[in-house]
Amino acid sequence: MNNPYTLSFGIEPNEYISRTVQMNQITDMFTSDVPSNYLYLLSGVRGAGKTVMLSNLSDTFVNMKNWVVINVSPDVDILNSIAANLYSRRGLQNLFIDAKIDLSGLGIGVSLTNSTPIFDITVALESLLKELKKKKYRVLIVIDEIINNKYVRAFASVYQILLRSKLPVFLLMTGLYENINNLQNEKSLTFLYRAPKIYLEPLSIASIAIRYKAVFKLNDEEAKKLAHLTNGYAFAYQALGYLYWDKIFESNDKCDFDELISYYDSTLSEYVYEKIWFELPETEKSIITLLVLNGRMKVKDICNSLDMPNNKLSVYRDRLKRKGLIDTSEYGYLSLNLPRFGEIAKFWV
Ligand SMILES: Nc1ncnc2c1ncn2[C@@H]1O[C@H](COP(=O)(O)OP(=O)(O)O)[C@@H](O)[C@H]1O
Ligand SMILES: [Mg+2]
Repeated sequence: MNNPYTLSFGIEPNEYISRTVQMNQITDMFTSDVPSNYLYLLSGVRGAGKTVMLSNLSDTFVNMKNWVVINVSPDVDILNSIAANLYSRRGLQNLFIDAKIDLSGLGIGVSLTNSTPIFDITVALESLLKELKKKKYRVLIVIDEIINNKYVRAFASVYQILLRSKLPVFLLMTGLYENINNLQNEKSLTFLYRAPKIYLEPLSIASIAIRYKAVFKLNDEEAKKLAHLTNGYAFAYQALGYLYWDKIFESNDKCDFDELISYYDSTLSEYVYEKIWFELPETEKSIITLLVLNGRMKVKDICNSLDMPNNKLSVYRDRLKRKGLIDTSEYGYLSLNLPRFGEIAKFWV
């Protein structure tokens, strides 16, 4: 049998742990009769599972009646792709042609007799969506890894117009905190920056233990020990499973537990942590460095060490929490959140 775990990003793994609560929050909202929210931005650290969750959500809506799902890349002309995608869809095309919507002026479809070609992309999208609305369709636009570029800026401003016109156009995006934060300074993008955000929760440790137990035929203690080593971080769940399969379960010269951990550390480091570490701005790095050297720390002690007032630290604390790097759940304390981060980063500080 092949290794059921994967080290690849963005791929729905064979060993998948469901995220029912957060997925339902979105599907319930978008399918309600009068949604109070038309867009969500999924955020979380690299490897938290944003792309996988987004494609699951996209699949969910593809399978629902009267939903049209459009996946677009932020690196292409988003508005034109959406129009072209809608217009060329089997089952919808006749609807648009019957309504005499002629987008040939935008390079989409062919010119129709007795119709006035539309040259403006906003007008084009409004016309298409109006027809879809009459037939009770809802459209979902899906964009992975949002960034600040000309296509995203153009899309954001038109999307606001479509929403104001009460057209049934829903939006799901993912983005790293750094990139989302980068949207706020751009006037046309503050709207996306303010979009309701869903920070990916860690996967359930119990579910992880149950799956490891089943796959590797472990006892409860062993399964629990492995599950805790992932701290619910999606990439870590795959990486540890992958290595356990490769180095222990299916291996002739089985490695011991310490060796497994050393492979695990180098995998985490190579695939994610190095990147996170070297991209950290100075002040954030100095806070993380303290946690790497000391483990869990009192907020007060961090302020003292860095000679930083508490209100200033709070700003960085929020930022690091949103990036998914620290745990702030214990009042008055900060600790590292990603599994084995401290043990790995100690070689860099
Ligand atoms: N719900 C999940 N259950 C199990 N593994 C997951 C889950 N979501 C993501 N993964 C795995 O975690 C890794 C990172 O997922 P990905 O969606 O690419 O993260 P991101 O887009 O946040 O960087 C991939 O190997 C993926 O297979
Ligand atoms: Mg991704």
